[in-house]
Amino acid sequence: MSNLLVTGGAGFIGSNFVHYWREHHPRDVVVVLDKLTYAGNLDNLASVNGESGFHFVHGDICDERLVLGLLREHSINTIVNFAAESHVDRSISGPDEFVQTNVIGTHALLKAARAVWLESDPPVHAHRFHQISTDEVFGSLGDSDPPVAETARYAPSSPYAASKAAADHLVSAYHRTYGLQTTISNCSNNFGPFHFPEKLIPLVIVNLLHGRAVPLYGDGRNVRDWLFVTDHCRGIERILQHGKSGSYYNIGGNNEWTNLDLVRKLCQLMDDAFAGDPLLCPRFPASPAAAGGTCASLISFVRDRPGHDFRYALDFSKCAAELDYSPRESIGVALSRTIQWYLDNEQWWRRLIDADYQAWVEQQYGAATRLASR
Ligand code: NAD
Ligand code: TYD
Repeated sequence: MSNLLVTGGAGFIGSNFVHYWREHHPRDVVVVLDKLTYAGNLDNLASVNGESGFHFVHGDICDERLVLGLLREHSINTIVNFAAESHVDRSISGPDEFVQTNVIGTHALLKAARAVWLESDPPVHAHRFHQISTDEVFGSLGDSDPPVAETARYAPSSPYAASKAAADHLVSAYHRTYGLQTTISNCSNNFGPFHFPEKLIPLVIVNLLHGRAVPLYGDGRNVRDWLFVTDHCRGIERILQHGKSGSYYNIGGNNEWTNLDLVRKLCQLMDDAFAGDPLLCPRFPASPAAAGGTCASLISFVRDRPGHDFRYALDFSKCAAELDYSPRESIGVALSRTIQWYLDNEQWWRRLIDADYQAWVEQQYGAATRLASR
């Protein structure tokens, strides 16, 4: 049995992980520590909040005393660190918060883990610090480069990627210097339920429903490797159970799409959803699909992201060979399920489309892309 501290557990991937873990390991204790930034949302944890064996703590990973207290109070033996500022565009317009949470915050967690697990009497021998990292630390690939393995050099482009890379180096240093048992996973782009609608896939879904322009940066030919979030959670589970301390593991999707092709696919799936469900037309009358048009008419090319990485692709053969990991979800089915989740959970995303968020989106991309609210 494990007692887990899941930091950032009210965000997109963290909350999916909490649900996954509670379902597959119901006897474990799960403590979520989350600052509830704009990206953190207690609604994501509504179905588990109040259950025995689950605790939510509102706080900052930079608060080392708080973390020390939680590790001791709940006899935590596993930390899974999802907490981060995670949006590349925000890191370009305001990098400070990224250094604070992603670097200083991860270091505060490491210091607390070292104090409680290694320096207490007796030490906690069976422990694990798992760091959730990203493929973005490896930087951009060209069209014909092979996917990157764990041994590739870190070459981050954005302040977000640089802050994640710095955090990974600290985790690795705590393993090598102090003997902390650590693992790091570098994952490709996730999608699925509870994804905040500033990231590409949920932003496209919400904009298509409102007849708003879908902003594609540059020429839309940048490539991302997409992974359904449940596959990511399963990969983390395998690493926690069977991963070797001190190791890095790539969790990829083997699922590369240009942004343009991906968005076209989403448009087609949305057209199909409207064709199959007459109730969608009165609910979302501004969508072109409601008037028999095509959602693809909303695709609009906008100025490129500065330093926009052209392509990410991960070689996850180590995870496959050592941990028997491979993604299970097919992209078509998983995208349809994701669209359906947003259709079924309109209240969830509508609350996020508030004035502050709209102002930020408008400032970034122009008025045409502003999300509509009722
Ligand atoms: P997210 O932005 O949806 O969630 C981040 C969560 O961290 C939020 O709940 C937020 O409130 C919390 N948080 C932020 N600062 C905090 C602090 N100082 N103290 C405590 N909590 C804080 O992010 P996500 O997309 O779920 O990503 C989770 C992790 O996975 C991140 O570390 C990210 O770098 C990594 N990752 C994400 C992707 C992806 O496609 N989304 C891919 C690879 C890796
Ligand atoms: P995003 O979801 O922000 O993830 P990341 O930058 O971490 O890969 O973006 C995915 C891709 O989509 C990336 O190449 C940038 C592009 N993009 C757009 O073209 N338009 C948008 O409105 C957004 C948010 C992203």
